[in-house]
Amino acid sequence: TGYITHDPGFVNTGAASSAITYIDGDAGILRYRGYPIEQLAGKSTFIEVSYLLIYGELPTQTQLAEFTDKIQRHTLLHEDLKAFFSGFPRDAHPMPVLSSAVSALSTFYQDSLNPFDEANVELSTIRLLAKVPTLAAYAYKKSVGQPLLYPDNSLGLVENFLRMTFGFPAEPYEVDPDVAKALDLLFILHADHEQNCSTSTVRLVGSSEANLFASISAGINALFGPLHGGANSAVLDMLEGIKAEGGDVANFVTRVKNKEKGVRLMGFGHRVYKNYDPRAKIIKNTADEILSKLKGGDELLDIAKKLEETALSDDYFIERKLYPNVDFYTGLIYRALGFPTKYFTVLFALGRLPGWIAHWREMIQDPATKIGRPRQIYTGSAERNYTPISER
Ligand code: CMC
Repeated sequence: TGYITHDPGFVNTGAASSAITYIDGDAGILRYRGYPIEQLAGKSTFIEVSYLLIYGELPTQTQLAEFTDKIQRHTLLHEDLKAFFSGFPRDAHPMPVLSSAVSALSTFYQDSLNPFDEANVELSTIRLLAKVPTLAAYAYKKSVGQPLLYPDNSLGLVENFLRMTFGFPAEPYEVDPDVAKALDLLFILHADHEQNCSTSTVRLVGSSEANLFASISAGINALFGPLHGGANSAVLDMLEGIKAEGGDVANFVTRVKNKEKGVRLMGFGHRVYKNYDPRAKIIKNTADEILSKLKGGDELLDIAKKLEETALSDDYFIERKLYPNVDFYTGLIYRALGFPTKYFTVLFALGRLPGWIAHWREMIQDPATKIGRPRQIYTGSAERNYTPISER
């Protein structure tokens, strides 16, 4: 009724009240449940951060042990779920494979359908945290034509995922602690980011009282796009492209500024940050260390740094307040850890999973939640009369 606000892209629309994540985009501040991201990145672990986001407080020793144990007991997939992976073309992109598999979880766990059954929401939460890494590893294994591995529940979440991804059934797999630590850090940095496109999608789908698996599957599809999670793969493709053309960074920046169709500086710019993305700051500081440890340096990192330097001293980027975002340096690290470019966005999904779950649970428990149903400004034809096809 009455006045409708037109806000394309929801630039100024507060669609939810939330106590999970605080961002001050001008100051470059990010906090999960009040804790600065810098402290969590330096001192916490991904599993602890997952607990914090979902339940609101850092766990005690006992709570963390129970949470870890519950997750470890749910990492196996139903054998029938594995058949699912054989239905996709081998060169399928792993993101739609993952979203389809997560969607299929609601067919395997039909006890999950009532979003107000708190015990089952808790079980679905644990099932997701435990099984999505297994599903993600299987999506990878299928894409490279290698046999699937059962989870090894003596390992932690990240170690188990690495073993299922890079290990072989009959061979022992030594998890490199540097690799596990780097991935754990990247997961922490991706774990939540308030009302971004995929989280808003999870909340919107969930607002119709769709179950947690269905809502998260929708979130994974939203994350797939290159302006959102897909940017981490796009950055690497961009850096490879610049390298192939002789490393001419200045020429690439000119093409961006000329707004050549399809040419953006990927990994730059953010809807909320009008300052250096605090996550990118942390990653940049660790990228050097990780890359030289794992690979003895990387030519693409040099191109990325030159690109950043060129952009940050250019009026086009200064005027528009465009700074590196979280995805600018992550791809280089994922590549050094051994992941193919196509797979990077799946790693973002693994990191964002606890954030999506926390938001869905907050949304479903909030008495103020109503079904998400935006309005529109109608721009079509005025009323007109139907003409029979013979007269058109
Ligand atoms: N390269 C060149 N120009 C840019 C870029 C960029 N990466 N980002 C924004 N601009 C320009 C844009 O053309 C516009 O210029 P003008 O005012 O002359 O039309 C101005 O800056 C404002 O941009 P916008 O598109 O209105 O900003 P937005 O808030 O709608 O978009 C964004 C935010 C992240 C989609 C955008 O900055 C972008 O496309 N970046 C590249 C993709 C990327 O790195 N995405 C990852 C985001 S962080 C991870 C995540 O949470 O998903």
